[in-house]
Amino acid sequence: MMSIRSPLARLLAPLPTHLRDDAARRYARQEAVLLDRLGSLYGQRPDFLPWLGDLMESVGRLYAARAPELRRQDAQREARPDWFASQSMLGYSAYVQRFGANLQGVAARIAHLRELGVTYLHLLPFLRARAGESDGGFAVASFEEVDPALGSNADLLALTAQLRAAGISLCSDLILNHVADDHAWALGAKAGDPLLRDFFHTYPDRVQPDRYEQTVGQVFPQAAPGNFTFVPELQRWVWTTFYPYQWDLNYANPAVFAAMAGAMLGLANKGIEVFRLDSTAFLWKREGTDCMNQPEAHSLLQALRAIAAIVAPGVLLKAEAIVPTPKLPAYFGSDAAPECHIAYHSSLMAAGWGALAEESTDLLQQVIAATPPLPPAASWLSYVRCHDDIGWNVLLNEAGADGPARLARIARFFAGTPGSGSYARGAAFQSSSADKAHGSNGMAASLAGLESATTVQEQEYALRRLLLLHGLALSFGALPVLYMGDELGMTNDYSYTQRADRAMDSRWLQRPAFDDSLLAWRHDGVSASGRLYLGLRQLIDARGRLPALAAAAPRSVLPADTPAVLALLRGDAFLNLSNFSGASQRFTLPAGEWRNSLDGSVLAGTVGLQPWHMLWLEREQEQKREPA
Ligand code: GLC
Repeated sequence: MMSIRSPLARLLAPLPTHLRDDAARRYARQEAVLLDRLGSLYGQRPDFLPWLGDLMESVGRLYAARAPELRRQDAQREARPDWFASQSMLGYSAYVQRFGANLQGVAARIAHLRELGVTYLHLLPFLRARAGESDGGFAVASFEEVDPALGSNADLLALTAQLRAAGISLCSDLILNHVADDHAWALGAKAGDPLLRDFFHTYPDRVQPDRYEQTVGQVFPQAAPGNFTFVPELQRWVWTTFYPYQWDLNYANPAVFAAMAGAMLGLANKGIEVFRLDSTAFLWKREGTDCMNQPEAHSLLQALRAIAAIVAPGVLLKAEAIVPTPKLPAYFGSDAAPECHIAYHSSLMAAGWGALAEESTDLLQQVIAATPPLPPAASWLSYVRCHDDIGWNVLLNEAGADGPARLARIARFFAGTPGSGSYARGAAFQSSSADKAHGSNGMAASLAGLESATTVQEQEYALRRLLLLHGLALSFGALPVLYMGDELGMTNDYSYTQRADRAMDSRWLQRPAFDDSLLAWRHDGVSASGRLYLGLRQLIDARGRLPALAAAAPRSVLPADTPAVLALLRGDAFLNLSNFSGASQRFTLPAGEWRNSLDGSVLAGTVGLQPWHMLWLEREQEQKREPA
């Protein structure tokens, strides 16, 4: 029988009396956006209202199941919604298996994270993954279960509690775009369940797929060409943007939205505080387009945000949208309809590496100019490296008329092609031809020259380049996320070439196991690892005491005489001066005295910058003079 009760009544029905006032208040704040976005996506369907009621009732059940300590945290964060945008937030990202062997091993690394000043830990996918190759866990077979190879659900609950006690928020991937071909939904579809087949985009022949292929790009043109896979059990073509075993979900089906909203809240109730919304740009398909960044994808995310804000307002959504700079701000939504709290700034990351290759900050300056101020209670995510390639195509807008060729030159530089004179040791990723760039792989230390360094000076320069890029990420005005091993200068792991299931995907170069022998040298001011670690720690400590480096504090770039130098001003009292070239440069400081944040020396007038040298400077307060 169709229920005539309102969505609010259905939400409150499963809740004990003492939770109802809060739930009703939060619902009232979200109602307009929630109903509008879900109505725009699914309102035409005759079953919309009963579906909405059922959705709200299941949301209510998950609300009721939320643990009191998580509800307390929610209340604190509701009172301070920009809690994550401060200059003392610092992230760290790692594969569970590589960092600690399993979840218990990760818990044993909390001391290391605390010593670094980490307050946010992104563990790459740890839910039960597809049997066999799984794209590093990005082919999820169950959203309810920790991968048995990495631990149990009880281990996850224990880890989230330990991290919370240590002041570290756990971030988990929420892989919204696709599931593994052995997820129960895919298995059910293969077994002939028509409701589950409708969870996916499937086609009886190539007519429709061929139409889409005319305008849709390719993420892995070499390792997984095309966007559709023929599935013999279905006798149909299935949309598979990434690997053939990752089946894209069909969000035109409201059951998919409800299932994924439930998956998100279930994980939030296990203590996940941040969701890295994987591949958010791809959620909605529209013929004749590249099927990225569609308005409906934004509606879906806004509806998801509204649901999170009702049940778990302490939880953050983070957009992994690796898209050109102008497409990024939309992932924050608007004041009336907020979307993600945090968004990866992959253009900034790529432009930083581009600046090293070109010994010019041209791309970087353009990216910074194209980065709008943040809306309230939001943050960019800055980073130097992550588990994926450095994708160059996000810079096509900035790279100018010969963009593809220019980016291809940069990619060749990082491939360290023998004879190119490059210090980098990386690999080009999925490039379809020599005059086009797709991505570059490699650990930061290898790309910056530490792996190839044979002299003291080469090593020194490599360390400077690493500190330069990290210094940018730490001072840009963002949540900076360190990638596991970069704090110690860990280099490439070439062992993937020996495994048939990985050899075609050079992203495994940057997925080494954590090296405890380097960790032991972290306080040694002579070893490369120790110098890098101590240098980073100095930057992190300085950042923590500088409110001008908070995410939302204003940012501008001062003109320099040479494109080799970036002069990034935060507020009017902090300056990051970075020389991205191998030649010494000079820069004339704005009037007044400037104190070096790291060694306390005071500078004024024209300063010299050694090759790849960075200065962090704070404007000296003018002494108040006693009236004569
Ligand atoms: C994201 C992940 C990447 C993965 C892809 C498909 O981009 O970062 O590692 O291959 O999504 O899930």
